Amino acid sequence: METVVEIRHLKKSFGKNEVLKDINLKIEKGENMVVFGKSGSGKSILIKCLVGLVQPDAGEVLILGKDICKLNDDELNALRKKVGFLFQSGALYDSMSVRENLEFPLRGNKTNTKEETEALVIEALKNVGLEDAIDKMPTELSGGMRKRIGLARTLILKPEIILYDEPTTGLDPITSKEISHLILEVQKKFNTSSIIITHDVECARLTANRMIIIKEGTSDITGTFKELSESKDETIRAYFQ
Ligand SMILES: Nc1ncnc2c1ncn2[C@@H]1O[C@H](COP(=O)(O)OP(=O)(O)OP(=O)(O)O)[C@@H](O)[C@H]1O
Ligand SMILES: [Mg+2]
Repeated sequence: METVVEIRHLKKSFGKNEVLKDINLKIEKGENMVVFGKSGSGKSILIKCLVGLVQPDAGEVLILGKDICKLNDDELNALRKKVGFLFQSGALYDSMSVRENLEFPLRGNKTNTKEETEALVIEALKNVGLEDAIDKMPTELSGGMRKRIGLARTLILKPEIILYDEPTTGLDPITSKEISHLILEVQKKFNTSSIIITHDVECARLTANRMIIIKEGTSDITGTFKELSESKDETIRAYFQ
């Protein structure tokens, strides 16, 4: 097995607020890791540490074998292209069309011709079943469609690792399920490894190969969906209700 993400003894505090105290985590190639944890437990901070958006206080973060704290800016930027990040807020640019939103991550890549860029945009939209939305504005789209376009924008750089921050939050149960299935399709088609932060039990059930629950800044509670949801420990089962 090939380990694509390894976190060792990660710590992060904000002033007196010790958010992450000792996080240890390994993700193998092609694996979906679901992260549960109460609001404010540090889930978003954790994945921001993985792409250098937040600087950890201590510990090691190895992405595709590289210690991200030891990389210079160029190396970090090159690595970031291999890690797709689907933000909690969705974050499409409302003043840009769907096409322009998808072209955005490609802008540094000056070797692409106009035709090549268009082909990449169309391919990414096809992956999420929304090729007809190419000339729409984000405000014309439903919440579920916006999430899909956000995912298409992440997929356009063909990342090896995808970090999903609450991909189904704010969606109805049926649309949530569609997004969960889309996450699975992406995993199968591209053999991506993912971290999926969610409060959605159904999303976890569908997508998780393994799970961790962040509690009191640690990552000691880990197992499959079945193991954790059927745990003898009532406090663990509570996350699944
Ligand atoms: N830039 C910051 N400055 C100070 N404190 C911060 C900062 N970012 C996050 N925090 C604090 O870190 C803690 C963890 O935040 P984080 O966003 O990771 O929570 P979360 O588990 O993702 O919660 P939610 O489920 O609500 O999204 C919170 O107490 C938050 O107030
Ligand atoms: Mg969060």
